[in-house]
Amino acid sequence: MSTGTSWGVIYGVGVGPGDPGLLTVRAVEVLQHAGAVLAPAPRRGGESLALSIARAHLPAGCDVHTAHFPMTERRDELREAWDEAAALLLRLAAAGAPVAFITLGDAMLYSTWSYLLSAVLRLAPDADVRTVPGVTAMSACAAAVGRPLAEGREPLLIWPDEPPADAGGLLGLAPNVVFMKAGRHLPALAAAAERAGAEAVAVRRASQADQACTTDLSAWSADREYFTTVLMHRAGDGAPHGAPQPALDSEEDRA
Ligand SMILES: C[S@@+](CC[C@H](N)C(=O)[O-])C[C@H]1O[C@@H](n2cnc3c(N)ncnc32)[C@H](O)[C@@H]1O
Repeated sequence: MSTGTSWGVIYGVGVGPGDPGLLTVRAVEVLQHAGAVLAPAPRRGGESLALSIARAHLPAGCDVHTAHFPMTERRDELREAWDEAAALLLRLAAAGAPVAFITLGDAMLYSTWSYLLSAVLRLAPDADVRTVPGVTAMSACAAAVGRPLAEGREPLLIWPDEPPADAGGLLGLAPNVVFMKAGRHLPALAAAAERAGAEAVAVRRASQADQACTTDLSAWSADREYFTTVLMHRAGDGAPHGAPQPALDSEEDRA
């Protein structure tokens, strides 16, 4: 497949962690000019959180689509879903207006966008594909608990999914570890933090109206909430916790 000069640019847009106020100015500009938008949905036809964040900025008549990406390790199934979505993005871009794939947090951090980007370029090597970075979920989590992710010369390690049996051992590599998709692993992470004498805080739905934080990780074990991140810090390192802050601060708060 080849694209001519009249094809719309295909953007991957990071829409941030949930608070619509954390969309970047560039993201808003791109969305306001989009002829079509593709959003990931957790289930076929299900609600897309990314879409709920972006919707207020879409122009009237914007052609909105959702795509379901299966939660599987099977590469063939995933590749099929990515290729299908990439082909849709190309068909939409053929209409000539810019097209945006929207994704939570940043588009280049553990996001479906990176696979779509490759798939689009595999199908159409001369397509104009661009990425608009977004505020990461871990940044929103750190802001929520009032504790830096890392400072000075400290390394920061990000663990993207099921933690290793000795999760606390990761603190030997870096004094700060971010565990994503942590909702299913809270009992293991609580035990690991206790064994390592580390500080751990779980944050869910950071920056959203129902944002919550706890240092009692086990208390949320039953919930297995997908939008949960655990920030673990080697005890005694780094800055002390600041005051946790509420999500969605109002204009009055900022005045
Ligand atoms: C596939 S990763 C997406 C990361 C995203 N691209 C980013 O830049 O932050 C999904 C994980 O991000 C974390 N996450 C996303 N949004 C979050 C939020 N608002 N609060 C806490 N964690 C969140 C959770 O750990 C979730 O399981």
